[in-house]
Amino acid sequence: MGLPWIGETLDFYKAQRKNQLYEDFVEPRIRKYGKTFKTRLMGCPTVVVNGAEANKFFLSNEFKLVISSWPASSVQLMGTNSIMEKQGEKHHFLHGIVVKSLNSSGLEYLVPKICRMVEIHFAKYWDSGKETIRLYNLTKVLTFSIVLKCFLGIEVKPGTLEIFDRVLEGVFAAPINIPGSTFSRAKKARNDIENMLVDIIRKKRFEMELEERRGTAEEEGSLLSGLVAALIHGEISESEVLDNIVLLVFAAHDTTSFAIAMTFRMLALHPTWYSHLLKEHDDILSSKNGDETLTFEDTKKMTYTWQVARESMRIFPPIFGSFRKAIDDIEYEGFIIPRGWKVLWTTYGTHHNAEYFKDPLSFNPSRFEEPIQPYTYVPFGGGPRLCAGYQLAKLNILIFVHYVVTRYDWSLVNPDEPIANDPLPFPSQGMPIKISPKLS
Ligand code: HEM
Repeated sequence: MGLPWIGETLDFYKAQRKNQLYEDFVEPRIRKYGKTFKTRLMGCPTVVVNGAEANKFFLSNEFKLVISSWPASSVQLMGTNSIMEKQGEKHHFLHGIVVKSLNSSGLEYLVPKICRMVEIHFAKYWDSGKETIRLYNLTKVLTFSIVLKCFLGIEVKPGTLEIFDRVLEGVFAAPINIPGSTFSRAKKARNDIENMLVDIIRKKRFEMELEERRGTAEEEGSLLSGLVAALIHGEISESEVLDNIVLLVFAAHDTTSFAIAMTFRMLALHPTWYSHLLKEHDDILSSKNGDETLTFEDTKKMTYTWQVARESMRIFPPIFGSFRKAIDDIEYEGFIIPRGWKVLWTTYGTHHNAEYFKDPLSFNPSRFEEPIQPYTYVPFGGGPRLCAGYQLAKLNILIFVHYVVTRYDWSLVNPDEPIANDPLPFPSQGMPIKISPKLS
């Protein structure tokens, strides 16, 4: 388990920074000790588990045997009242608010909003006359605006993305609040966000209460109004609204942007798959009149595109895995995991394993034509903490792909661009691509 307190933390961080956590840290230990092994990370004894049985056991036993467990810095920066810190009834309630806002009528409401946002984005960044743009960096700006404006219903002011990014830089940093440290910069950024959001939440509450008194209240559809309605009815507190907005923005934008970037990378590297995908979008486009925008029904026809995106997320999962804490002594595979120990489940442990996916490093979207065994494909997690924003991520990816492939010719500048990680994976140069508008 390595040195006394620090254990194998430095090796873990070193491998993580290179985005080689699985290859350099987990795989060598699996070869030595098997799919389940113990280590010590950030001061905590930790059991790393891999494989479909492990995913099923630990993800489905959330709240019974384990609870979600994030580093102290993440909790302080996301807020103690975010969904990731909630259990039982309160967790169920908050998870339900997010999922409900993404039911089929919520998705129908969102599609034109997202399309409009993508159009504005293209006019500003893709049609500015530049031949080369950074796809990942720009997609981050777009997904950030989509989650804040379309989903939550909050206007994005200039500089807001940079403030959120500063908070994210601190989520895995040592929680040392001394001037100049990464954590203290992140904490200051979190305070700025808090001040901005408190004003927005109070204004929204005032407007909604006024409308209720006047009898003019209408179902508005944004998640902010759903959260504020729960606040007005005394079901959640103001800090629960605030911390969950912060959490949702983090949960949504880097993950989705990376998934989009990797989808384009794989399309560029596999032209045959690209031409299949293009046909799907050309068919959808030719079924529309003039400037008619996409509908939710159109996105349901993008089945092949979704297979490509799923396969890209299998090879490049946006989330490595996540930590749980044992709330009881747990007997697993003949070992006892003592109460209080951490458990780290991984996406790579099944995604990159030939036992579950034949020839796992080769890109083959058609593997998703067949049903996938439960708990083998887990980019969105599983069990009660299954990603609450899955449907939004899916819409975001499908709509963005549609607009790019039907409007632009594009190619990667650096097909071997390394992937870095801080604390989530990203293409190290922001994924430069050459673009030109399609002629016909
Ligand atoms: C490709 C994009 C995305 C990926 C790969 C992804 C992945 C994940 C994973 C793996 C988890 C489970 C974490 C755990 O078990 O500890 C999760 C949870 C969550 N995600 Fe996503 N996510 C994505 C996009 C989104 C979006 C767009 C939203 C919001 C609009 C979102 C909101 C959430 C929330 C709220 C949770 C916590 C659920 C809970 O604790 O009950 N995610 N996500």
